[in-house]
Amino acid sequence: MPLQRISINNLRNLGSANLNPSSRLNFIYGANGSGKTSVLEAIYLLGSGRSFRSHKIKPLIKHDSASLTLYAEHTSNNSIHKIGLERSGANNASRTKVDGRVVNSASSLASLLPTLMIDAHSFSLIEGSPKERRSFLDWLVFHVKHGFHDAWKGYSKALKQRNSLLRRGRIEGFEIRPWELEMCDKAHQLEAMRLECFKYLKQNLEAVISDFVPLEGVSFELYKGWDRDKTLEQQLDLGRERDYKLGYTWYGSQKADLKIKVSGHAADQALSRGQQKLLVCALKIAIGKTYSELSGRQCIYLVDDLPAELDSGNQKRLASWLNVIGAQVFVTAIELESLSLAWKETERDKIAMFHVKHGNVEQIKQEP
Ligand SMILES: Nc1ncnc2c1ncn2[C@@H]1O[C@H](COP(=O)(O)OP(=O)(O)OP(=O)(O)O)[C@@H](O)[C@H]1O
Ligand SMILES: [Mg+2]
Repeated sequence: MPLQRISINNLRNLGSANLNPSSRLNFIYGANGSGKTSVLEAIYLLGSGRSFRSHKIKPLIKHDSASLTLYAEHTSNNSIHKIGLERSGANNASRTKVDGRVVNSASSLASLLPTLMIDAHSFSLIEGSPKERRSFLDWLVFHVKHGFHDAWKGYSKALKQRNSLLRRGRIEGFEIRPWELEMCDKAHQLEAMRLECFKYLKQNLEAVISDFVPLEGVSFELYKGWDRDKTLEQQLDLGRERDYKLGYTWYGSQKADLKIKVSGHAADQALSRGQQKLLVCALKIAIGKTYSELSGRQCIYLVDDLPAELDSGNQKRLASWLNVIGAQVFVTAIELESLSLAWKETERDKIAMFHVKHGNVEQIKQEP
């Protein structure tokens, strides 16, 4: 589902930019502060309705402008789809349209344009809380299992009700039990979907790691959110008094984690910063590959400031894996030369180049 046309208006320092990207590889280069990450931010916004840099709308809108607008065309099932997005500073108003029809939920937008980001923040996958790794796995589950979103919504609602009863000391069976039963029902659906996706992801991870990361003993395990030898029902029963004292539910699907170990030790303790970067790249490649195998579609990769994150040998390895996957890639760097070197093996007619200068984006025909 590559993007074919992108128009950006009044996002950060980008006034008006029009891009005709390649369906494979897109180099975006320019000096510090020129607007490269903002181009990626525009694409990410189109794919998810939100930014990876700010939860608020106001900082995204160009100073002295009332609103930002984005437009893109992409192909899916041999037809062209149009996405339009407007965000206004006044009342945080927002409007998103797909093929002329208003879309109200971020999840309907996200299912159209799955994007994967590789940037300096991606390293929180290793050193961050379980939430980071859970969101990482759930990105895949959401995109390939159609019941996941509804099951998660149902689970979250039941969990919220249970937590509210716990806080009010209402832990008598007749009040709390129906919500616990609902939680258990949805948790088992979520667990089954996560487990199936994890099985495929793990195979791809092992393959990518053996090629990409010179590391021995990396292992992956899915923690479902409660003890392996118990059902969630048993766990909630046993923990009700403790949960009452805590004022919230300790075990459940909201605690799931993709545990990453190196020879039995936590990865953030066992690996150097450079090794963690490689492992993160392997995770991102493997999940994109798994997505494409399970869905028959491609996601879009946004890679921000590649040379700052990887040495030249590893940039080449990442480039060759992204080439194998065949996804559409947008990659930024300060110098065009570093990108050209990393992607030396890529056919030149599959590459589009964009020079960003003081908020202007110019499509370059030939390497200068
Ligand atoms: N709302 C805004 N309106 C106008 N300019 C903004 C706004 N928000 C941020 N900027 C400016 O936009 C510019 C571009 O930022 P961006 O992060 O895209 O640059 P970059 O090319 O990725 O830089 P770097 O190489 O340092 O990562 C910055 O100079 C920033 O100060
Ligand atoms: Mg940047």
